Amino acid sequence: MTYSSTAVINVPPPREVKPPPPTFKDPCSYSDPSKLLTHHIHLNLHIDLQRRLIISKATYTIRVIDPTEKSITLDIRAISITSITDPSTNTPLPYKIHKPIPDAATGDALTISLPVIENGLVTFCIQYETDGLGGDFSCGGACQWLHPKQASGNPFIFTQCQSIHARSVLPCQDTPAAKSTYSALVTIDEQSVKDDLQVVMSAIQQPLEKGDAENSWRFNCPVPVPSYLIAFAVGKLESRNISNRCKVWALPDVIKKAHWEFEHVEQFLKTAEGIAGDYVWGRYDILVLPSSFCYGGMENPMLTFVTPTLLSGDRSLVSVVIHEIAHSWTGNLVSCQDTCEFWMNEGFTVKLERRILRELYGSGREGLDAISGRNTLNEYIKRTGSNHKYTSLVTKLEEGDDPDDYYSCVAYEKGYNFLLLLEEYVQHDYNVDISEFFKDYYQRFSYQAISSSHFVEMFKEYYPKTSERIDFDEWIYGTGYCPQLANVDSKLVEQVEILIQRWITCFKEDALMGDEKNEFLSWDACQKLSFLSGLANKVMREDWWNEQHVLQLEETYKLNGVRNSEMRFWWCRLGVAAKWHGILDNVVEFVKEQGRMKFVRPLFRDLSVVYPCGDFAVKLFEEVTDSYHSLSRKMIQRDLNIA
Ligand code: BES
Ligand code: ZN
Repeated sequence: MTYSSTAVINVPPPREVKPPPPTFKDPCSYSDPSKLLTHHIHLNLHIDLQRRLIISKATYTIRVIDPTEKSITLDIRAISITSITDPSTNTPLPYKIHKPIPDAATGDALTISLPVIENGLVTFCIQYETDGLGGDFSCGGACQWLHPKQASGNPFIFTQCQSIHARSVLPCQDTPAAKSTYSALVTIDEQSVKDDLQVVMSAIQQPLEKGDAENSWRFNCPVPVPSYLIAFAVGKLESRNISNRCKVWALPDVIKKAHWEFEHVEQFLKTAEGIAGDYVWGRYDILVLPSSFCYGGMENPMLTFVTPTLLSGDRSLVSVVIHEIAHSWTGNLVSCQDTCEFWMNEGFTVKLERRILRELYGSGREGLDAISGRNTLNEYIKRTGSNHKYTSLVTKLEEGDDPDDYYSCVAYEKGYNFLLLLEEYVQHDYNVDISEFFKDYYQRFSYQAISSSHFVEMFKEYYPKTSERIDFDEWIYGTGYCPQLANVDSKLVEQVEILIQRWITCFKEDALMGDEKNEFLSWDACQKLSFLSGLANKVMREDWWNEQHVLQLEETYKLNGVRNSEMRFWWCRLGVAAKWHGILDNVVEFVKEQGRMKFVRPLFRDLSVVYPCGDFAVKLFEEVTDSYHSLSRKMIQRDLNIA
């Protein structure tokens, strides 16, 4: 089958973004979108991969909500400003840079005197340079410049702006409360042109215009998005079509594998549309990044970024892609207004993701993921303390707090369980499927940035009877584990649980397993993974867990050779916890191969606990740190207390 890669895309004209109320203050941003709201940003970017430098001229159109304002404040971090001008007169505009909180992750405040207002809008240009690294390594920045050996022989750069790293790439109102459209004209250095490098962005590629340099790229994002969704990558990228609106981008050595792994994306998208409503973004492409990418997936609009550790060869890890697809409604269309309300993005997205999984693979599959999510949540709350403010869905972050510290499974799993309980109650009280409500909710708050109270108000309006049974405040603002749990389909989980229990009994009684052990071999990768993570969660902190037990498992299932990244991760954790030296080569190789935080952070933490003498973890970290993204680096430094 052939598809035209520039299929005509019907993106509806953007609706107006509502400014937040005057009382609104995002603790992670110095801007005030309730008075002046970014309407459009045009980026003229030159990306120099040889010099590792971004040279940019950005033009801002700002909607004036409060005409008495004389200046606007934007967020920046380690950006060097060349000039700020009024494009209508080409005259410089006065500006000041201040550091409200020295060394804070929030960076600096750039305050610019405003030019004249015309039709309720003001326009100004900022010329600046940045390496996108966010200054010293204590905060991290959006960009990672890769050495050619990390990216199939050519230089590579990519960005990761969520939560507050957009400010290291461009001056902006770096709060999701300020959603704007954006466009870009991008050029790259001569050598990179010769090397045939490709630019991709979280936007729709446009035809070049008269006067554009031959080797340039134009993009447009006609739907208003928060700054954290602005993203780009440059490298030796190839693409393959999946359908007329989906394609996959990857380095030449993995493109074939990537295409196979994600071949069903169009089907996922259609299923999502059936549940959530029309997909408004036009294209849905996937970019498989080099292995240092610090997340599993990032929902950059029209172009999801993913880690190559999803390329398992058996399509067993595609739920990450389904999760990022779900963000097209929850997070990207309806956005949380600030990081404190992060669960409004992730909790709702996990809910939609697992609803799609239920549709595609049955309720047993949703149950499997739901239960392992509950285990993860339990572990996190045990480790953090059930009174800790980070265990509530909405957390009051303080000015200067680093949102990367706040990131955890709470927003995801507690959020999901809250919405799942609402689903169960609504089904019981009204005998209706809550999906219709969610669909209306995505419609009502499309193109907006909202808080939990918007959701609660709408829910109460639809389901007054159910609302009486729910303690919303406890769920949303209370700390600790879920107040109540909904029932989930546990048929797949039960098989797994039984085998885990059998093994534990054998381990403890020093007995041998019977033929029931072979059931494992008949399972798919998701059930196998659930077995390994479930077992690990039960035994890892037990005194009796030792080398003999891991060896028994190895003899039975030959797990040390498994290359499915999720299974390998749990296998490594089991081995480290048992102090089995035979696992160490595997662990070392694994943390050298990739920098996904979900895998490397717990492994470094485990190593530092199990081998505290000789600083095994610290030394290993020093060996790999240069190849990691600054965000992985800073978080591991904090975890290991070597910041
Ligand atoms: N938006 C998140 C990633 C993120 C969150 C980056 C906060 C920076 C700050 C993305 O959608 C996500 O949740 N990714 C998960 C995968 C998912 C299946 C839970 C990941 O990377 O593990
Ligand atoms: Zn997400």
